Amino acid sequence: MYHYSSSAEIQAYIKAVAFHYNVYSSITFNTLVNKAVWSEEYATWTVSLENGPDVECDLLVNGSGILNNFKFPDIKGLDSFSGPVLHTADWDASANLSGKRVGIIGAGASAIQTLPAIQDTIAHADVYIRTPSWIMSPVLESMATTKGNHQYTAEEKERFRSDPAFYLERRKEMEVASNKVLKAFIRDSDEQANLRTELEASMKAVISDPALQAQLIPSFEVGCRRLSPGEPYVAALQRDNVTPVFGDVDEIQPDGVVSGGVLRPVDVIIAATGFDTSFRPRFPIVGENGVDMRELWKDNPVAYCGLAVAGFPNYLVFLGPNTPISNGSVMGTLEATADYFVRLVQKMVAQDVAYFSVRADVQADFDSQTQKTMQKMVWTGSCNSWFKNKLGKVIALWPGSSLHYREVLEANRWEDYEWKHRQSNRFAYWGQGFAKVEDNGDGDLAYYLHAHEPLPLEAYYDAARGRGAGTSPMPSEFTPRKSPANEVKE
Ligand SMILES: Cc1cc2nc3c(=O)[nH]c(=O)nc-3n(C[C@H](O)[C@H](O)[C@H](O)COP(=O)(O)OP(=O)(O)OC[C@H]3O[C@@H](n4cnc5c(N)ncnc54)[C@H](O)[C@@H]3O)c2cc1C
Ligand SMILES: NC(=O)c1ccc[n+]([C@@H]2O[C@H](COP(=O)([O-])OP(=O)(O)OC[C@H]3O[C@@H](n4cnc5c(N)ncnc54)[C@H](OP(=O)(O)O)[C@@H]3O)[C@@H](O)[C@H]2O)c1
Repeated sequence: MYHYSSSAEIQAYIKAVAFHYNVYSSITFNTLVNKAVWSEEYATWTVSLENGPDVECDLLVNGSGILNNFKFPDIKGLDSFSGPVLHTADWDASANLSGKRVGIIGAGASAIQTLPAIQDTIAHADVYIRTPSWIMSPVLESMATTKGNHQYTAEEKERFRSDPAFYLERRKEMEVASNKVLKAFIRDSDEQANLRTELEASMKAVISDPALQAQLIPSFEVGCRRLSPGEPYVAALQRDNVTPVFGDVDEIQPDGVVSGGVLRPVDVIIAATGFDTSFRPRFPIVGENGVDMRELWKDNPVAYCGLAVAGFPNYLVFLGPNTPISNGSVMGTLEATADYFVRLVQKMVAQDVAYFSVRADVQADFDSQTQKTMQKMVWTGSCNSWFKNKLGKVIALWPGSSLHYREVLEANRWEDYEWKHRQSNRFAYWGQGFAKVEDNGDGDLAYYLHAHEPLPLEAYYDAARGRGAGTSPMPSEFTPRKSPANEVKE
């Protein structure tokens, strides 16, 4: 068990969770969804599968993710390369890198993670860096050293198991570290300036050559594109078997990579070139009036709070456009989204709703408020990043912190939706007017009464004598608000 867990560890955990909560058997694996069409007549979605019959459902929740549609670079001659071309997100574990000359294209989080992992196996790597990344020290240095990823000892694991308070404290420490980043991402804030000073200093401390410092330390705002805990990468770039190459890649030839007019021969190319992050669905999602979301979102993906889309009733999406994927903890965010979906579905079922549809005017307000907030954030800064679309609009981040997102969802705001009930009278689901507790034969019909301290007898005596008014403080909920209407003039 490592501080930065491997994909195998994460997968094993997710699998165990699915078994523990008895949902594993409900999952259909290896089945590609290739179309989803809304029926206004039946208020259902018809979902087409590549290798199975169509499925009808009342509600469609899209959890197809934003960082899995990997993208090869658009570089002339890539197809002509004579050796293997791997992508970091489609890793071929059987590929033999031992003693090979490798060209790594890209300088984002994937390249940063890949280089130190393969460096001891390969003969040499040319690392093509078009735009450098801000590198930070590992989160919680006590647990992740610059020398490598901390592997928890048997004693540490035993303490996590036997000391729940300690375990909770460590979890909170990590969560708080990622949840307090927002202030530093506000342009021209003291926190942004301090973070810049801190990272410049820490990068200079691990890059010995001033010329390399100038090329590796970005000029754009810290956080404009994703920060990476990547000191092992910076160390790797300075070792003998690595050549960082700055600038554009001109072309790929059968035996190597050309940049700045220089051909560097390699045996293997590794594309660490990221994903299609346009948010356009990979299959047709057809909503009201036959509108296909792929067309609608061709240039400008807009969703209400990143989770519902006007014109697409009974449709919800995890991590849609403008959700907190880099505003703090993502795991907390995903939990908050799931809890919100559950509350929404509970309302739908309990109130016999045929469909809900987010209001277009509300969605437009969300979009405009989001972009207004973005103007003060570093994310609209001078970098290239997948957080923005081609026009420079920030489409991938929430206008605030992860905690703010959670707070917004917790307020429910059901008024932002139109609700179409199955029956013409929206209250018809009341039936004869019995509460659920009454349906349940042995329910507590006075469940709202709780054990309570009785009022002291003195209160009754005082009230009877008309004495003592104002001597004990009024409960705050009865204190009149100060307003011009109730202000007492002295
Ligand atoms: C290399 C890498 C490292 C990362 N590390 C971190 C990290 O340390 N911490 C963190 O919080 N986040 C990390 N992320 C971000 C990470 O992607 C998300 O936190 C998380 O995976 C999002 O979960 P998800 O369920 O939304 O999407 P995913 O995990 O991408 O899952 C989506 C699933 O939908 C399936 N799918 C897609 N299209 C279809 C279709 N048409 N039909 C059927 N199935 C389909 C996919 O195959 C996939 O299984 C990392 C991302 C990458 C690429
Ligand atoms: N451990 C982690 O937490 C982890 C690890 C990996 C990924 N991730 C997640 O996945 C996201 C994507 O990361 P990523 O590194 O895969 O992708 P990325 O951040 O989009 O980086 C892609 C890199 O490829 C370069 N590139 C693309 N086309 C190129 C070309 N034609 N020529 C030269 N360079 C080219 C880009 O350069 P330009 O910048 O100049 O365009 C950039 O350096 C991250 O932001 C993060 O959210 C997380």
